[in-house]
Amino acid sequence: MKAFTVESPGGWAGAALRDVPIPARRPGCALVEMHAVGLNPADNDQIFGRYPGGPKPPFIPGRDGAGIVLEPDDGGRWQVGDEVVVLQSETTDLTHGTLCEQQWLSAENLARLPSGWPMADGAAAPLVYLTAYQALTVGGLLRPGNVVLVTGASGGVGVAAVQLALALGTTVIALSRSETKREQLRGLGAQHVFAPDDPDLKGAIRQATGRRGVDVVVECVGGPSLGLAVHLLDVGGRIGVVGVRAGIEGAVPIVPLMFKRGSLHGVLLTLEPPETAQQNWRTVVELLQTHHAEPMIAARFPLAETAAAFQRLATDVFGKVVVDIR
Ligand SMILES: NC(=O)c1ccc[n+]([C@@H]2O[C@H](COP(=O)([O-])OP(=O)(O)OC[C@H]3O[C@@H](n4cnc5c(N)ncnc54)[C@H](OP(=O)(O)O)[C@@H]3O)[C@@H](O)[C@H]2O)c1
Repeated sequence: MKAFTVESPGGWAGAALRDVPIPARRPGCALVEMHAVGLNPADNDQIFGRYPGGPKPPFIPGRDGAGIVLEPDDGGRWQVGDEVVVLQSETTDLTHGTLCEQQWLSAENLARLPSGWPMADGAAAPLVYLTAYQALTVGGLLRPGNVVLVTGASGGVGVAAVQLALALGTTVIALSRSETKREQLRGLGAQHVFAPDDPDLKGAIRQATGRRGVDVVVECVGGPSLGLAVHLLDVGGRIGVVGVRAGIEGAVPIVPLMFKRGSLHGVLLTLEPPETAQQNWRTVVELLQTHHAEPMIAARFPLAETAAAFQRLATDVFGKVVVDIR
């Protein structure tokens, strides 16, 4: 079968589409014929060997995906012909990823492809919506009337967070560096949209929130964005720390955090028990269906152009990049 494999450490020199044998059956797994795979920045980090605890070569990257069961798992949870999506949890095997034609995947990490969804949507959605849902709910449930700030709002997690926060009845403030993407975020329904480097961002957010500040931040950018997020909180506000696109370190202004009784919560899907991932996925699908929201796919590439798909993900996306395996 064809698989995008990483044979040596440290980046694209060791990563290529290759002919490899179909992996051997693993206990608790079903064999899935992959149809589409959603890319995530962490896949890129794994290829470059900078993902904490990531797989060592040789491995097949890719954590999202959608496909059809070819051989059931030994527990009988899945049957031949079932259309499935792949969820991320603590039992995900990062060495046996989805960027290939067939893969044995943990049965407890598979969920039925939602009715009426194309495979590409099923491949694009799970990781970013589950992350966004965890970030929105970590440290407490959202209440209607809450104000949610999403940084890096045009990315995979950002778009998912905007859609879910709106579906949960909150007011959404979205940040993006690009005017084109800010317009797209208004189109998604975000009530307030700003550039993160707006010199009067704090004033604009105070005005948008009736001088309060925001209740929850989904922080996808990292670096200096984390400190900015603390300054924008209301009293009792919390930040779900998701991403590091602008840097893996960020200074936290301690006094504002203290005087607002703010809280920082790390978000990490790879520590989610599989039952929680399944429960949260059911909630996410119901919210999307009830609110007529769909995964946002920016670009699609064939498996042979996986490297170009990663380049697109690194430069300019609104939503997700998907690799079509079939
Ligand atoms: N903790 C977890 O479990 C978890 C799960 C999923 C993802 N993540 C992490 O969360 C982050 C976002 O993931 P994603 O899938 O949404 O990524 P993405 O699709 O690449 O989007 C990230 C967004 O951040 C903004 N951005 C990118 N580089 C930036 C920079 N240098 N400075 C400022 N803003 C920048 C961009 O928005 P604009 O161009 O519109 O400003 C971009 O659309 C990544 O670091 C990813 O690894 C963590």
